[in-house]
Amino acid sequence: MQEYLSQLPKTELHLHIEGTLEPELMFELARRNGIELSYASIEEVKAAYRFDDLQGFLNLYYQGMGVLRTRQDFFDLAMDYFKRAAGEGVVHIDMHFDPQAHLSRGVSLETAMEGLLEAKERAERSLDLSVGMIMAFLRDRSAEEALQVFEQAKPYWERLDAIGLDSAERDNPPSKFKTLFARAGEAGLRRVAHAGEEGPAAYIHEALDELDVERIDHGVRCLEDDSLVERLRAEQVVLTVCPLSNVSLKVIDQLEEHPLPRLLEKGLKITISSDDPAYFGGGLLDNHVACHKAFGWGKDTFAKLNRNALEEAFMSEERRQILL
Ligand code: HPA
Ligand code: ZN
Repeated sequence: MQEYLSQLPKTELHLHIEGTLEPELMFELARRNGIELSYASIEEVKAAYRFDDLQGFLNLYYQGMGVLRTRQDFFDLAMDYFKRAAGEGVVHIDMHFDPQAHLSRGVSLETAMEGLLEAKERAERSLDLSVGMIMAFLRDRSAEEALQVFEQAKPYWERLDAIGLDSAERDNPPSKFKTLFARAGEAGLRRVAHAGEEGPAAYIHEALDELDVERIDHGVRCLEDDSLVERLRAEQVVLTVCPLSNVSLKVIDQLEEHPLPRLLEKGLKITISSDDPAYFGGGLLDNHVACHKAFGWGKDTFAKLNRNALEEAFMSEERRQILL
């Protein structure tokens, strides 16, 4: 089964590129940029990756990305991940990135965008991999700032596929970003949002109704509302579920108790992704293997999940037809 899962062409719809920063690269970039880390060794970094909740993780995630300073750093971060992912059979990644987390540290939009776009283009030329670009906005910062950053990014709009919404979910409802999402829609961008990870099922309804998103990132708490489940099923809204992430952030206690099998039984359009592989114990293949062990899923289930992802991925129709 491991061999089958490794060979299976896999598509990942939910990945934060800043969450792919492995401790080894963190140390290398810190050295290159003359930054002192608060960890003495790679082992110490890894030992710190035990989280109580989403906020506990976010604190380390924002701290870790402090080593990203130059265009080359962003290129190296993304290219490093693209090579690893392609090596384990990933053929497409829809990649979130967090410009506000860099702007707030004095790193320009251009530095981050140019490095990431160069890596995307290099990967698409040199690896059997395509990459979708999702500019994500931090929901625990103000709606005004998000709108201002979106307008600032205008020169890049045509190279983006979508905007997204991430960071601390509790008490930051989707409706806070209604104007931003409407504006992105007018600009011809697609929309996705994290909802129902730590936040309530009502946030999933709200993301669909007020932000007009086509995908829900995570969405596992939809099971708390039967009418929502029925809506997601009827409309076949894709959920990008991240099993190892949910265990790491204690959304659930252990993988065996994860609602994934129930979500599938309900007829929802489910996909699986790694979210922040450097922090949550593994990439897309590891998530597949863990689900096989926890749920006993066979080949058909994994083929179906990846077909779902491929149908919804931000990729050219030409490539989709080749891969389907
Ligand atoms: N949830 C919310 N925000 C995030 C995540 C996540 O899992 N990863 C990176 N930013
Ligand atoms: Zn996420």
